[in-house]
Amino acid sequence: MSHNHPVILGIETSCDETAAAIVAGPELKSHVAASHIVHQAYGGVVPEYASREHEKLLAPVVQNTMSQASVSWKDIDAIAVTQGPGLAGSLLVGLSYAKGLAVALDKPLLGINHIEGHIFANFIGQDGLPTPFLCLLVSGGHTQLIHVKDIQNYRLIGQTRDDAAGEAFDKVARMLGIGYPGGPLIDRLSQAGDPRFVAFPRSRFDASYDFSFSGLKTAVLYYLQKQSNAFIKSHLEDIAASFQQAVVEVLVERAFQAAVDLGLDRLVLAGGVAANSALRRLVDERAAEAQMTVYQPDLRYCTDNAAMIAYMGYWKYRISQTSELTIPAYPNLKLSFGT
Ligand code: KG4
Ligand code: ZN
Repeated sequence: MSHNHPVILGIETSCDETAAAIVAGPELKSHVAASHIVHQAYGGVVPEYASREHEKLLAPVVQNTMSQASVSWKDIDAIAVTQGPGLAGSLLVGLSYAKGLAVALDKPLLGINHIEGHIFANFIGQDGLPTPFLCLLVSGGHTQLIHVKDIQNYRLIGQTRDDAAGEAFDKVARMLGIGYPGGPLIDRLSQAGDPRFVAFPRSRFDASYDFSFSGLKTAVLYYLQKQSNAFIKSHLEDIAASFQQAVVEVLVERAFQAAVDLGLDRLVLAGGVAANSALRRLVDERAAEAQMTVYQPDLRYCTDNAAMIAYMGYWKYRISQTSELTIPAYPNLKLSFGT
């Protein structure tokens, strides 16, 4: 294959999705994901089960994505794999598999930061990036405002001081007894609810772009403790919508304020919570008023996927940033921030 359009296999096993994808240059050729349903019965991801599921699913998922892209082993120019952050055991399954392939095929290994994958998932298929921009990264583990000056040149503007936005969705869903994962379920339930039904608190910090969601979570808990089961049941949609609105308003308000203060006119949404329909709607509304260009990832690439890993692999390959075969899994891998 031509070196302008390297064929890259991307592998993602950081949590409870076993996923693989193929890009040729920036272009996505195929992507396949298998979600682990085994965790549903436990109301959250069970790390040991996740590792076992990855072991079982990874080889067939890779075969499947390769056949969908009509790619054989000899066509692959590099292997990109999530190095972190994520569950240690889960990361190791993908990383060991990718290292084995790199040795067997004698091709470079590209260790990918999952967070960077989420940010650039917006541009899958594109050969250029609209930097600089402000990124609102909202996932199960992260809530951050990041000034993206260029690829690998980031500045942290604000972040949550306690729970991540996605974590708040998951915890409140558990309080409401509606199941796991909470984000999509609350989103769906809220469509039929009144977001002004309960005035839950919006926390703000003066002179900071930081977030906090633990007070909101406690407010929901106290509110539920005061109501009868019958009342909660008949107003489940309204309570869910009111909680969701409180999260979404704070995120959007902070993000737009930071963008304006930094003189940035592009806002990029990233991470699982970027799939939230109320968030997407409010961001679109505010963008029109503020004359801001907004990028929202395609719904398929908001939550964990390998398309974003393969695409990041393309960028790393382009700047010849290959990894040693000895790289470890980094469960707490962070983005590195400059000033
Ligand atoms: O990015 P992601 O798939 O995994 C991490 O890297 O953390 O994000 C998962 C998080 C979960 O907390 C999930 O509840 C949340 O994203 N999420 C949503 C929606 N879809 C997923 N939260 C709100 N609304 C959604 N539609
Ligand atoms: Zn993720």
